[in-house]
Parts: sequence; structure tokens; C-alpha cells
Amino acid sequence: MPFTPRVFSGIKPSGDLHLGNYLGAIRRFVPLQETHETIYCVVDMHAITVWQDPEDLRRWTYEIAAAYIASGLDPKKSIIFNQSQVVEHAELSWIFNCVARMGWMSRMTQFKDKAGENSENVSLGLFAYPSLMAADILLYKSTGVPVGDDQRQHLELTRDIAKKFNHDFKKQIAGNGFDADEGFFPITETLSTGPAMRVMSLRDGTKKMSKSDASDMSTIYMMDEADLITKKIKKATTDPEPLPSEAKGLETRPEAQNLVAIFAALSDRSVDDVLSEYGGQGWGKFKPALAELAVSVLSPVATEMRRLVDDRGEMDRILADGADRARAIAQPVMEDVRRIVGFVR
Ligand code: TRP
Repeated sequence: MPFTPRVFSGIKPSGDLHLGNYLGAIRRFVPLQETHETIYCVVDMHAITVWQDPEDLRRWTYEIAAAYIASGLDPKKSIIFNQSQVVEHAELSWIFNCVARMGWMSRMTQFKDKAGENSENVSLGLFAYPSLMAADILLYKSTGVPVGDDQRQHLELTRDIAKKFNHDFKKQIAGNGFDADEGFFPITETLSTGPAMRVMSLRDGTKKMSKSDASDMSTIYMMDEADLITKKIKKATTDPEPLPSEAKGLETRPEAQNLVAIFAALSDRSVDDVLSEYGGQGWGKFKPALAELAVSVLSPVATEMRRLVDDRGEMDRILADGADRARAIAQPVMEDVRRIVGFVR
């Protein structure tokens, strides 16, 4: 029996949501719910791999769930929940810790970047993070995951874990009534939905937009007021040249490239299409148009996010319902996994 097409993705509640999270992730999640079974998770267990103030963690967890819904994810169509409510994530990640090899984990570039010089003093959880991510995905036998380029290596690891599990337990997989050639876990695909969108800092077009940037003006937060969004865009770093009339003309102009890409993503247009309108014009024309567009798209999302975040009762109901539906998929998978690895039940 082939695997049911199923999409899983998650965002970590470890800071205020910004335009990069919105355009790079959440906005791409929305159309998938029309074509796939979709599970969107707030991965709070991933967040605590580095210290989080518990009050902030709770607030950010609600904020991401609210952003999902405010951006158009329908909690009836998609399963929306926070990871820690489905304990099977932790259980499967332990089994995967015993499948994944130290050598594989040591090659993870994100860990190396995050740990840096400090690798003796980061949590064991930060090192094991990709194994928990593989568990998130495979607990639902997900066949596709929409993620940005920075997560590609983790998805490759997810496939390696699935393959090794399928191989190491081949006999037991067959013994439990599964097609051993197909395997127990699917080989999950990286889904790319449209052109890769990497939103860069408004101050430096070569750095990713991030909550940890030293300059407050470099990052547009989802909860920013309209006038602050406008101010940040008008003050964004640019070169003095007018806009080119084709995408090729942006290649050596990272700041210009970033602002045009943001315009294109916010308006669901291609970069070339945007340039066919603004090519030859200066920033004095383009920036106000971008600011107006950004405010018109982001303000309604922020308003709805605030309303939802303030309605804890409603949010708790949505997350509990999502967790129930997630568990209904996860529990039978875990039952099979326990039998396959030889745990006495
Ligand atoms: N590691 C992802 C990130 O930092 C978040 C994540 C955790 C995730 N589990 C996942 C993404 C499963 C996709 C699928 O962005």
C-alpha cells in the first residue's frame, strides 16, 4: 500500500515572528492545504534546545499558532497543534537517536554554526535536534515537507534515518504485515513551493532577516504597527541606481534584489513582472509603493493575530483539537514502531 500523501512542517517559538517567517514559510503553507493532508506544528520542544524564558515560550507558541490561522490556515482543514502535546514525538526521537549515527549528526552544518566556539557548552538537545525533527516528520509518515534551504540537510538526514530504520528492521517490518521493500517509513521529499524565498535584512542584503540582528531597523516583525513598517522600508539600505527592468540586473545588487523579491512575494507576482512596472524608476517611487503593499498585506494579519492571541480559550481549544487529531495518526504508528523494535507491550 503506497503512503498517503501528507505534508508536515513546523516553526520554532523562539522569538517574535518576522517577515522572513511569513514569506519564507507560513504563506507557503496555505495553498498546500487545498491539495494535501496538512499538519502544521508549533515545535516548542525544539525551542528549548536553547534556553527560553517559559513565559516567552508560551507567548510565542500562541503567537505562531495565531499567525498560522491569521495567514489563512484553516484549523478544520489543517491539523494545527503544538508539538509537546503529542508525547509520541519525544518517544520516536529517542528511537531515532539510536538509529542515527554520531558521524551523521556531527556533519550538521546548522549545529556547527549555532554551537560555534561554544560546542562544549551547548545542550545535548541542540545536537540531537535533527533527530527530533526526523521524528516530527516520520511520526505521521509524512511524504512532503515544505522548508527553506537552511533545512535541506536536516531533511536529508530524515531520509537517512528512514532508510536505516527500514533496513535494520526489514524482517520485523515484513513480520508486522508491511511491504518490506516499500519500507515502514516513507522517504520524505523536500517540497519547494515556488521560487525559494529567503528574506534578507533591510540593512544588509547579504544577511538573512533575523530576530537576533543588532539593528531594530533590519527586521519587519509581524506585530509591527503600520507606521513602523513604513519607516523601516523607507530607511532600508539601497544603492543609488534606479531599478533595472529585468531580474538579471539585480544579480550584483543584494539590497535591491531583496526589496524587489519582497514586493513580488507580497503581491504574488514574479520579479520580472514587478520590474516591468518599476524598471527605470528610483527608490523614491518604489519604496513608498512597497511600504503601502506591505502594510496592506501585513496589517490585517497582525490585527487577526492580536485578536486570536487575546482569546486564550479559543486558542487552547484549537490546539487541543489539533493535538487530538495528530495523536490519532501518531499513536497507531508508534504502536507499530514499538512492536517492530521489540518492546514488550
Ligand atoms: N528545524 C526547523 C527550523 O528551524 C523547524 C522544524 C522542526 C521543522 N521540526 C520540523 C520543519 C519538521 C519541518 C518539519 O526551521
